[in-house]
Amino acid sequence: MTTYITTPIYYVNAQPHLGHAYTTMVADTYSRFKRLCGDRVRFQTGTDEHGDKIVKAAEGENLPPRDYVDRISRMFRDTWPLLVVEPDHFIRTTDPEHIAVVRNILQKVYDQGDIYFDEYTGLYCQGCERYLTEKELVDGNCPDHLQPPREIAEKNYFFRMSRYQQPLIDHIRANPEFITPERYRNEVLSFLSEPLEDLCISRPKSRLTWGIELPFDAAFVTYVWFDALINYLTGIGYPDGNDFATFWPVAEHLIAKDILKPHAIYWPTMLLAAGIPLYQRLHVHGYWNVDDTKMSKSIGNVVRPAELVAEYGADTLRYFTLREMSFGLDSSFSSAAIVSRYNADLANDLGNLYSRVMAMVRKYRGGRVPEAGGGDDDRLLAEAAGVMLAAYRSNMAGFRFHLALQAVWEFVGLTNRYIVENQPWQLAAEPERAVRLDQVLYNSLEALRLLTLVLRPILPEKSVVMGQGLGLAADDRRVSDLAVGALWGGLTAGSELVAVDNLFPRLEKQPAASAAPGPAEAVADLTDSAVTLVSLEQFRQVDVRVAEIVAARPVKKSTRLLHLTVRLPEERTIVAGIAEHYRPEELIGRQVLVVANLKPVKIMGISSQGMVLVAKKMEAGRERLVLAGISEEVSPGSRLS
Ligand code: ME8
Repeated sequence: MTTYITTPIYYVNAQPHLGHAYTTMVADTYSRFKRLCGDRVRFQTGTDEHGDKIVKAAEGENLPPRDYVDRISRMFRDTWPLLVVEPDHFIRTTDPEHIAVVRNILQKVYDQGDIYFDEYTGLYCQGCERYLTEKELVDGNCPDHLQPPREIAEKNYFFRMSRYQQPLIDHIRANPEFITPERYRNEVLSFLSEPLEDLCISRPKSRLTWGIELPFDAAFVTYVWFDALINYLTGIGYPDGNDFATFWPVAEHLIAKDILKPHAIYWPTMLLAAGIPLYQRLHVHGYWNVDDTKMSKSIGNVVRPAELVAEYGADTLRYFTLREMSFGLDSSFSSAAIVSRYNADLANDLGNLYSRVMAMVRKYRGGRVPEAGGGDDDRLLAEAAGVMLAAYRSNMAGFRFHLALQAVWEFVGLTNRYIVENQPWQLAAEPERAVRLDQVLYNSLEALRLLTLVLRPILPEKSVVMGQGLGLAADDRRVSDLAVGALWGGLTAGSELVAVDNLFPRLEKQPAASAAPGPAEAVADLTDSAVTLVSLEQFRQVDVRVAEIVAARPVKKSTRLLHLTVRLPEERTIVAGIAEHYRPEELIGRQVLVVANLKPVKIMGISSQGMVLVAKKMEAGRERLVLAGISEEVSPGSRLS
């Protein structure tokens, strides 16, 4: 079996946030799940780099579009490893192969008469990069951007989308799985119940040059959506590549509800016109809000993935978002919600079960897997595992991740109850019941192995540690292959367990700083009061990360300060007192260590959001500052621990 899963390609006019992270983590989880099922998988993400919006954003930064898109695209690419997201391909619409494919498809559709030239007057929304219909407006404004569209009259090329309206309706009706969840399928069908207008697919170069030139008229560039959607074909080598033949027939697109129309209407009609089979499925999720409020730069509540990872770790973020959002509906993010889900599900339920079973096997059986079980109640546990696995498989395959995790956690609860009911500590006190104790411990360990297996796609880091504790390497098929691993009884009697650290230490709900003892209190406990010892928890409150310097300039009226822009991988400003030791130009591209969670302070009128770490060195009687670094290049934003 093969799987091809894509995320939207993200606009480079904004830095990655929780919404982008969610879609990309879902796609990664799904591809890991499919690999667990034995599929050959291709997972693609990337960036959408042409159009008005991007030009405006580049102008805002005083950069040529090319330099600007390179910079932001890299930011997206560098964010994914922090979330343990591993795409097989990262596509950019400025890639030459992509440009060639877009031109090839445009020419094909033009040659067969589905593109025509016409004058058009319409209401254009810059934010949406498309013309809106009167009907779509709310109080004269674009409903998404809350701004009135501009009336524009110009000559342009149009794609005869209307010609494919009925074939598309027929396809959606005949294939109930084409658009899921069902509410979005209904939304599309309802939209298609009205006549479909043709789609304007060009922009005159007099207005926009940052785009792909039309192959049949050099005075125009391609409308961004006609360009962007084609990435799904380019990335797998359309038209002749082997990967295209392998993966296109199984293509699944993952998006949020904001871009339903381009994906459910523009894209399939484009494919029909180009004579290319339609994609298999479109999965549509809802929106993440923050503290029940829409995420927005102006409100200042945009949540950055790298910051969440630094605070909670990638696995916790993946688990939380997948468990919390009912796929298809909106959801709200808050620190309180992530902390309480972490404590309840990961620290209490799963973490305690794991450490409890491991501790008992260490204590009663010297840390070795005992002989396998038997008996009726044991069969019940094995059967419950089977039920969990079936629910897990079907819900993971159906993009109902919250239900898959619910089934897994029911099994965690059941295993906890199994232990309480069988009271291994009691059995251990009665030597004649040694065989029974073996059985109970073996079954509990098997339950842990199955949990390790099913959690691989969701907790890619912690599940590996869970497996190691059971003496199973990451690539051992009993924890990396659903067909093999699902069989009850995979653990071998006599094999040795390995001690692992507490998997999910509890998080304090209060901001950690206020819960920790103050320095005075800490010093009071020490025998050597010259050294202030801190606990590991206290140390972990300091977020030291690797940052890459992307810009550096002197601060006016200061001989000591430099104004740095660093990537973490999102960009930040840091004012550093190193001007007497480093020239700005020698800093660009350099990886340094920064404290990322210092309270911002204003220095010479500039808000400094962090501190660059340096060591001091005496040289010829003078103190020199030497930047702290890391011995090998790593992804910007990586946290030191
Ligand atoms: O639309 N909650 O790019 P984009 C959940 N370039 N997901 C969210 C979200 C939120 N609050 N905000 C954004 C574009 N997303 C086009 C796509 S594809 C051929 C071209 C996620 O940067 C979600 O996946 O605006 C949404 O569909 C996507 O980011 C939009 O990204």
